[in-house]
Amino acid sequence: MSEKTGILLLSHGSRLDDGEEVIKAYKEMYKEEFPDMPVEYGFMEIRKPGIPETINKLTSENDLEKIIVVPVFVAHGLHTKRDIPGMLGIESDFDPESVEGHGHGHHHHHHHGHDDHGHGHGHGHHHHHHHDDEEESFEFDGEIVLTDPLGIDKRMYEIIKDRVSEHL
Ligand code: NI
Repeated sequence: MSEKTGILLLSHGSRLDDGEEVIKAYKEMYKEEFPDMPVEYGFMEIRKPGIPETINKLTSENDLEKIIVVPVFVAHGLHTKRDIPGMLGIESDFDPESVEGHGHGHHHHHHHGHDDHGHGHGHGHHHHHHHDDEEESFEFDGEIVLTDPLGIDKRMYEIIKDRVSEHL
C-alpha cells in the first residue's frame, strides 16, 4: 500500500481475444519491470473489464492518489479525445466543431452523452456508464491523468519496417 499512483493500460476492446493477449502482455512486462507499481489493463468498450471495473480494482487493492491512464492506441481519435475523457470524468480539449459534418457514425457504439454529469474536474471522479443491461460506476477522489497515445515514434517505425521485411 505504499505506492500512491496506479496505472491503467487501456485498450479499445474487441470480441476476439487477440487484443487482450497484447494488452495483457504489456501489463505483465510493466509489472515485471516495476513490481511495486499497481498496473491493470482494461477496455473502453465491447470487452470486460471496462474502465470502471479496472479503476475499482486498482483503488480497492491500493491506496491511490493518482491514476495514469495510457490509451494503447496508435493515434488520437474521437475515442481518446472525446469518449475516454468522458468515461473518466475528466476535461478534454476536444472541439466538437472539428468533426461537425463528417458523420462520425461509429459502427459499434452506443456511447451516451456524458455532458450531463456535472462533476467538477480535478478530483471527485464519479461516473456512471449505463449500458442496456448493466450499470458500472466508479468513485475516485484522486487525480486521473490521460496520457497521449503511442503516436509518432522511431520505435514504432522500426516495427513497421520489420513487418514489411518479413515478407520481402
Ligand atoms: Ni470504438
